[in-house]
Amino acid sequence: MDCNDAIFSRRSVRKFTNQAVDNVSIQKILIAGASAPSAHNEQPWHFIVLNNETIKKRLAQDMMNAYIASGKADEQRAVRSYNMTVNTPVIIVGCLDMEQLKYQNELEYKMGIQSLAAAAENMLIAANCLGLGSYWRAAPWVTANIIRNVLGVPDYVEPQWMLHVGFAAGEPGRKIMRNGIDHWNHW
Ligand SMILES: Cc1cc2nc3c(=O)[nH]c(=O)nc-3n(C[C@H](O)[C@H](O)[C@H](O)COP(=O)(O)O)c2cc1C
Repeated sequence: MDCNDAIFSRRSVRKFTNQAVDNVSIQKILIAGASAPSAHNEQPWHFIVLNNETIKKRLAQDMMNAYIASGKADEQRAVRSYNMTVNTPVIIVGCLDMEQLKYQNELEYKMGIQSLAAAAENMLIAANCLGLGSYWRAAPWVTANIIRNVLGVPDYVEPQWMLHVGFAAGEPGRKIMRNGIDHWNHW
């Protein structure tokens, strides 16, 4: 797949077959993430690969309980969150390592978040190149401590996103791109 195809054909895939994803492909996705630009070349990321059923189930269960306890999700939504986690062959949790930031201030923190986002997009494109489906899940923003507890992530490391990866079951729907977003030389 050429570079343009890899970018333009990438779509969020949320349903996966049971087919396992091989470790070589996962490694390629991780390297793509680690090749992203980062503020001050801090490379402030850690990537936790979840491909163990027991761990995925435990994380899914604790996240579901937290959603219900927070009152932010009804039971149906919480169960959907559980299924999303357990029905994905591989989940990569992207984490921001605060100790890698050059300065401990808000600007540096925001740039760290942007660096992690750049890594995530590289990984989504790499997955597409490898014939894998994937999507970005923001759940760690509201379940950071659950993820820390279940996966043993230290306090100075902030879980930012989860990428769900696997072989696509079905085709994604059509996407309409917004117009009027380019501004040349002036707004
Ligand atoms: C920062 C960010 C957070 C996202 N969080 C979620 C999420 O929590 N759950 C989800 O299903 N999709 C999530 N997505 C995927 C978007 O819904 C998806 O990219 C968007 O609808 C456009 O579709 P496409 O990826 O197929 O182009 C997220 C994407 C980004 C960039």
